[in-house]
Amino acid sequence: MAKDFAVFLGEMLRRPTEVSAIAPSSAAVARLMTEGLETVTGPIVEIGPGTGSFTKAILARGIAPERLTLLELNARFCETLRAKFPGVRVECRPAQEIEKLGLRDVGAVISGVPVLARPTIQREIVGPCFRVMRPDGFFVQITYSPSAPIPEDVQRELGVVATKRGTVWANLPPARVFVFRRRSH
Ligand SMILES: C[S@@+](CC[C@H](N)C(=O)[O-])C[C@H]1O[C@@H](n2cnc3c(N)ncnc32)[C@H](O)[C@@H]1O
Repeated sequence: MAKDFAVFLGEMLRRPTEVSAIAPSSAAVARLMTEGLETVTGPIVEIGPGTGSFTKAILARGIAPERLTLLELNARFCETLRAKFPGVRVECRPAQEIEKLGLRDVGAVISGVPVLARPTIQREIVGPCFRVMRPDGFFVQITYSPSAPIPEDVQRELGVVATKRGTVWANLPPARVFVFRRRSH
């Protein structure tokens, strides 16, 4: 835990725009982010796992390691993830490349990637994630903003709709969790 914090802080200082947080998410946020995964079928993908707070919670929901794929940009974090989570597929590449992994019928994407901090990547990440998802698949996003991390017009363009799952005040900073699903026509 202390080691994760040290690794996280070091990478935050080196790559502040990519990491965008001063500490790994708390266990309470990880529980909210992974709520309901027990009933999901198909592969599960986590993007921007960092040191693995959400990964640990996903596996604690009973998801078999071989169903889980992680896409993390940062090589130092990937090293940590491989050591901590044997059996989980760790891809050291950007989430924008999710369609290149051969995954189909993904049940859920759990995202720690700071989409709010970098609006240009909203289209590049959320669109491709939905293209590899099952019709009932969903995309869960952490944000530090009280409102949805993707503006309404971009949600419409991407054919998705956001609902707020909840807020965790006991996190540094307080975190909100939003879920995106396909818009019904
Ligand atoms: C705020 S940290 C969240 C880490 C972890 N999920 C947590 O909550 O403790 C954001 C993470 O997203 C990663 N990241 C940023 N942009 C990314 C991208 N385009 N694709 C994959 N990972 C990315 C960063 O390297 C960092 O590990």
